[in-house]
Amino acid sequence: FPLLKPARQEWSFAGFFGHYDQAQLQRGYQVYKDVCSSCHSMKLVKFRNLADEGGPGFTEDAVKVLAATYAIEDGPNDAGEMFERPRLPSDAFPSPFPNDNAARAANGGALPPDLSLIAKARAVHRGFPWFVFDMFWPYQEQGPDYITALLTGYQDPPEGVEVPEGTYYNPHFINGVSLRMPPPLDNDVVEYSDGTPQTKEQYAKDVSAFLMWAAEPHLDARKELGLKVMLYLFVFAGILYFVKRQVWRGTA
Ligand code: HEM
Repeated sequence: FPLLKPARQEWSFAGFFGHYDQAQLQRGYQVYKDVCSSCHSMKLVKFRNLADEGGPGFTEDAVKVLAATYAIEDGPNDAGEMFERPRLPSDAFPSPFPNDNAARAANGGALPPDLSLIAKARAVHRGFPWFVFDMFWPYQEQGPDYITALLTGYQDPPEGVEVPEGTYYNPHFINGVSLRMPPPLDNDVVEYSDGTPQTKEQYAKDVSAFLMWAAEPHLDARKELGLKVMLYLFVFAGILYFVKRQVWRGTA
């Protein structure tokens, strides 16, 4: 399989001190909402998560207003009937299809996967020989690197290569060389209000960062705690060393 190793991108959340770029997560959510959500669900993410610390940083009021723009079926009520009501911040993002069969039927037989955890699910590449390296040297940004590569990697098939009907050639796809997702992004398909360039590459990076946050929402807090723990252990090791010298003084 000519599976390509996704190019490594620069991510604000890489490294010991990395943390999410709030503006990027907000833009990424916009790309998800305007483009990806017409086919992909994100069932594990609740609207209120958009206001969680270390996330896109929406205000609670903004989240309430946003959630209420989507309806959800609830019930049964006292009369035993189901009813529709506006979504609350505690409700999950809406799914575009009522069930997997409907989703498959609308997408030529392929199921658009739920994107809640996709950045983690694609964090290890399976193509030979990369998986050998990845087993020994995994890094957390592989998921978003892959998603960016996939979204920007659509090409015309090379001479002599025929792809099955209804699929699109993309040598980055993890399960073959063509997939049933049509190229979802192009320049200027989403309007950014903060002046960030409206290019396909920028959209891909922003939505990949957003999907990374969805899959790994506590990354900022975890890194911060990790640093504190390392610092504590370092200081404690020093104290122990001096205690040891004190205790054994004069015995050599
Ligand atoms: C598959 C992301 C928009 C339909 C996928 C996969 C990802 C993804 C990560 C999994 C690929 C894999 O298995 O490794 C996105 C993102 C989108 C987007 C970030 C928005 C920018 C769309 C749209 C549609 C769609 C608008 C429908 C028109 C599909 C389908 C698959 C898929 C049918 C399964 C492909 C197959 O297994 O052949 N998408 N997608 N996606 N997506 Fe999307």
